Amino acid sequence: MTRIFSGIQPSGELHIGNYLGAIRNWITLQQQHTGSLFCVVDYHAITGNYDTDLLRQRRWDMARSLLASGIDPSKAALFMQSDVPEHTELSWIFTTNQPIGDLERQTQFKDKAGTMESIPAGLLMYPVLQAADILLYRADRVPVGEDQVQHLELSRDIARRWNARFGEGFFPEPQPLLTPTRRIMGLDGKAKMSKSLGNTIGLLESDDDIWQKLRPAATDPQRVRKSDPGNPDVCNIFQLHKAFSPEATVAEVDTNCRTAAWGCIDCKKVLHTHMVAELTPIRTRAQLLADEPSRVLDALADGARTARTIAQETMREVKQRMGLDPLKVS
Ligand code: AMP
Ligand code: TRP
Repeated sequence: MTRIFSGIQPSGELHIGNYLGAIRNWITLQQQHTGSLFCVVDYHAITGNYDTDLLRQRRWDMARSLLASGIDPSKAALFMQSDVPEHTELSWIFTTNQPIGDLERQTQFKDKAGTMESIPAGLLMYPVLQAADILLYRADRVPVGEDQVQHLELSRDIARRWNARFGEGFFPEPQPLLTPTRRIMGLDGKAKMSKSLGNTIGLLESDDDIWQKLRPAATDPQRVRKSDPGNPDVCNIFQLHKAFSPEATVAEVDTNCRTAAWGCIDCKKVLHTHMVAELTPIRTRAQLLADEPSRVLDALADGARTARTIAQETMREVKQRMGLDPLKVS
């Protein structure tokens, strides 16, 4: 049986990069695979300095945005990582047998640690906790964006190493599930869309705010005047069309760009229409959930209960295989 698990940090508002790279896939997968698990990984979000009130707010916002995006608590478990203490328990177990060198080679670690004077050990251990998140549910498929592929490779190493020592075949080797939109570029067209770079479109932004961001967004740099033919293959706006617009529109955009029948603003207006059509229902649901926060809390409580049942069973078996099971008088 395929088991789906994924996680996301509560590190600010969801943006369309997260949505297209991961969350939209979660919504599809929960329909196909009953028993999928989706986790707000709040323990991953405390590896640097942070404001406690802001974190509390962001944990709320992330849970609400995921439900608004279409995670259905009657189909999948949505929960907070810190509500299931087995995540940190299994993480410690994996840490005891994890070569430090492999952790130091992780791109995300190098990027983050490079800017720090004093590096918290938690930042180095971050992917070990991520492996524990996944393996605690013995999940074998993990829908994420491209930036997480390296972390999943490490998760497979961890599973393999533990299995070799304590129980062949116990943990599956989790594979990433990527989408065609595995790496959405920011509005500057230069770097990956990312909250920390300030080049995002938030999932819950108003129609007008989205337009204010799309209007000046980068397109094919060779296309200076409206009469210049463009190359959609190098245009970030075209990539977004492929993500949001129906196929017929994508074909029309392709032709009208290459023949200069449309200018970039015309093209962006059409994109805006299709983006708004997909994002408006999400925004509406987010507002309903903001008015009725108990629905968010109920979903999280149910999700944590489901998750813990599986997590406790895994830990019982892990401890038994490692000689850590409850002592008995023989
Ligand atoms: P993060 O916001 O970095 O915690 O990422 C949450 C999820 O969104 C992960 O699965 C990422 O791989 C994915 N993701 C983040 N940014 C992008 C992007 N620009 N394009 C595609 N996927 C992304
Ligand atoms: N590291 C992931 C990110 O930055 C978040 C994450 C934590 C995760 N645990 C996970 C993703 C488990 C998938 C599975 O996006």
